[in-house]
Amino acid sequence: MSTHIVGRAAETEALLACIAAGRHVLLEGPVGVGKTALARAVCAMLDRPMVRVDGDGRYSESKLVGLFDPPAVLTQGYRPECFLAGPLVQAMRLGGVLFVNELNRMPEGVQNVLLPALDEGRIFVPNLGEVAAAPGFVLVATQNPAEFVATGALSEALLDRFELVRLDYQTEAEERDIVAQDARCSPGMDIIVSAVTLVRATRSDARIRRGASVRAAIAVADIAARLGGDVARAAQLALPTRIELVDPTATPVAALLDDLAKKARVADPR
Ligand SMILES: Nc1ncnc2c1ncn2[C@@H]1O[C@H](COP(=O)(O)OP(=O)(O)OP(=O)(O)O)[C@@H](O)[C@H]1O
Ligand SMILES: [Mg+2]
Repeated sequence: MSTHIVGRAAETEALLACIAAGRHVLLEGPVGVGKTALARAVCAMLDRPMVRVDGDGRYSESKLVGLFDPPAVLTQGYRPECFLAGPLVQAMRLGGVLFVNELNRMPEGVQNVLLPALDEGRIFVPNLGEVAAAPGFVLVATQNPAEFVATGALSEALLDRFELVRLDYQTEAEERDIVAQDARCSPGMDIIVSAVTLVRATRSDARIRRGASVRAAIAVADIAARLGGDVARAAQLALPTRIELVDPTATPVAALLDDLAKKARVADPR
């Protein structure tokens, strides 16, 4: 899937410059703000291969680096052909971009495996030997700043090796363009306007701790298009999983979303 990036001129330029300069980049921004879309688009612009990893608490060192295929080792020994390269070794050999989603969720031990790769462009793999990165190898990692409480921030040592590109929510006009481009069910402009207004309202409401992203607006618009344009009902389906209330016992989420939907329709030019 290739996505045309709406807006983001400054961020695109910054990311292109860092990658072209061989610098590793930390893309920081809330869930669904467009981190993956931007990284993919920039890799495509630079014609660089991208190897993707999704970080989680159970991600292991051998998953990242690779491992020897046990049955092959039994018959052939530790030959290089028996090594199943993981994403880090693949990206290093290709001189590509290793894209690590949510690096801060990975166990610290796994994060530390990256240090020599970032510093010297080489790692040592037991029984395989040294793997040197081909020219062009860089790491682009993402982290979601709102999640630090649950997941922990990156170590100082790791942060010291990254340049930072921050992504914030885009303008209303840009978010409408993104929804129009990415929605699959061809919602009309009136649906798109309402969906974006409603989703943006979740970010500024005092009762909501974490509002929804443009990804949520795409979902609302798509569902509404299948529900005869009923954006309020689509929001009841798409938003409860995507917002976090300050106090869920104070206002039920359904009532809160109905309230926001009423306000969103006021802003609808229909
Ligand atoms: N500037 C943009 N131009 C075009 N599409 C965009 C843009 N920003 C976001 N999108 C679209 O919005 C959706 C969410 O973006 P994306 O998946 O890149 O967010 P993310 O920040 O990587 O999310 P997560 O934190 O969950 O990994 C995707 O469908 C993506 O194509
Ligand atoms: Mg992503």
